[in-house]
Order: sequence, then C-alpha cells, then structure tokens
Amino acid sequence: MITVNHARCLRCGKCIGDCVVKVLNSDKEGFPQLPEELAAFCLNCQHCLAICPAGALTCNGVSPESCSVPGPLPDPENMLNLIRMRRSCRQYKDENIAPEIMEKLKSSLAWTPTGCNDRGLVFRIIENKDDMLFFRKETSRMLKFLIRTGIMFLLYPRIKRFLKEILNGEDVIYRNAPHMIIAAVSDKAPCKEADPWIALTQFDLFAQSLGIGTCWCGFAGYALKASRKMRKRLELPPSYKIGAVMLFGNPAVSYARAANPENFNMR
Ligand SMILES: Cc1cc2nc3c(=O)[nH]c(=O)nc-3n(C[C@H](O)[C@H](O)[C@H](O)COP(=O)(O)O)c2cc1C
Repeated sequence: MITVNHARCLRCGKCIGDCVVKVLNSDKEGFPQLPEELAAFCLNCQHCLAICPAGALTCNGVSPESCSVPGPLPDPENMLNLIRMRRSCRQYKDENIAPEIMEKLKSSLAWTPTGCNDRGLVFRIIENKDDMLFFRKETSRMLKFLIRTGIMFLLYPRIKRFLKEILNGEDVIYRNAPHMIIAAVSDKAPCKEADPWIALTQFDLFAQSLGIGTCWCGFAGYALKASRKMRKRLELPPSYKIGAVMLFGNPAVSYARAANPENFNMR
C-alpha cells in the first residue's frame, strides 16, 4: 500500500519514473497513485519513497521520517582501498567482538539487496565464542569419521594436506574464529543462489571497514549442510537452506600491503 500526502507532493513524477514494476501512475490531478488492481505487483522496494524530494510517500506504513539520510559516503579512493586491502583472516583473538560492533554488523544486514526484493534471507550469528565449540566439536567428529572410513579421500583428496592437524583435533575449518554468520535462504526465493552470497559480501566489506577480520568458509557450509545435528542447532525455518557462511572476529594479524593479483582476466 502506498499513500500520497497531497499537501506535500510536488507532482514531479520522479516516483512514477523510478518504479521498477511500473505500477505507479498519475491520477487526473497529476498525483501518483497505485491502482488497486496493480498493488499485488508492487515489490515494496521503497524506491518511490526514497526518491521523493518532498517526503510525500508512505510505503506499507514506512514513512519518510522513519528513513535515515546517511552522512557522507566513502570517497572512491577509500572504497577502492577497502576492496584492495580486504583479506581472509585465519588468525583470530580468542575474544568476543565488542557488543556495539556486533550490533552495527547485524543492523547493516537490513540493507542487503535480494532478487525481486524477496527479502527472505534468514541470518544466524554465533555471537558468543563459547557457542562455536559445539560446531567445532561436531565438525571435527564428522571429519575424523570421514577420514577413518576413507570417504574423505574420495570427496576431497587434497584433505591429505591437513590429515595430521585434523587427527590432532585442530580446527582447520573454523580457524578458531570466535564468531560465524550463516545466511540461509528459502527454497522458494527467486534468486536463492545469489542472495546469501551478496549479503555476506556486503557484510564482509563492512566488517573489515570496522577492523574486524573475516573469512568465507565454504567448508563450514558443507559441514553444516551435512550434519542434521548442526542444522537443528541453527533452528532454520522449514524449507530454508544454508547458503553462505563467513567466520569473523577480532584479527590477531594485520597486513602490511595489498596482494598483487596476477591472473586477472579482463577484455
Ligand atoms: C566461495 C568461497 C569459499 C571459501 N571457503 C574457504 C574455506 O572454507 N576456508 C578458508 O580458509 N578460506 C576460504 N575461502 C577464502 C579463499 O581461500 C580466499 O578468498 C582466497 O585464498 C584469496 O585470499 P583473500 O580472501 O585473502 O584475498 C573461500 C572463499 C570463497 C570466495
């Protein structure tokens, strides 16, 4: 539902021009309107609300007053530096990150784009480092079982490289990270392949801008998907699947320089 405050509306048509599904048109007096028969097609993306210079539109109860007008954006040089200096962190301090940083990270997830503005992602965050122990133990148990039975060598022959560490109970998967975020997605989401990865890509950059170390963890994704016990612990809604997983925490290392990627292929 979109309501238009006629006293404020400038009738500039910006909202109509920016509507992705073209459901807005103008009434006889030139005010924007959402015809009832088109309301079901509205994605609730709030573009009309965001673009309105006069703050005249309210979308499904969301008023312009409730929306923030953030301060200055990072300049392109800073943004590029962040992209260049982002690194996978595999050495973490054995401590929880500060609660206010955790809150900032969590709140940033609201702005992730999703295909067709589905907004159906569910996030699970291991906020207390002690809770990582359950996942560590269970994954270690699974890995040892797969190694003992020889299944692991069929699934992933390169595991030989880590055999000794795994059998010693070292955490080669979660790298002793104090936190982990899991982006899960509904089976029915129109862009279920992309949405979780995009969400955690944004999370990654924002976290690193806050001095937090992060690491994509494809192996954790496999482990969580394979273990009913761990999936149960995450309490995902029915028909939700694990999409992407990222480790994070206060880094125990810092990098003196950016990498210099060699095989960069662009025409
Ligand atoms: C989809 C994906 C899955 C990954 N899974 C893991 C993983 O399970 N464990 C790990 O240590 N690193 C993982 N990585 C990190 C990559 O190894 C890393 O990005 C790459 O070596 C480049 O290093 P950088 O991130 O520091 O630039 C993953 C990265 C991506 C993009």
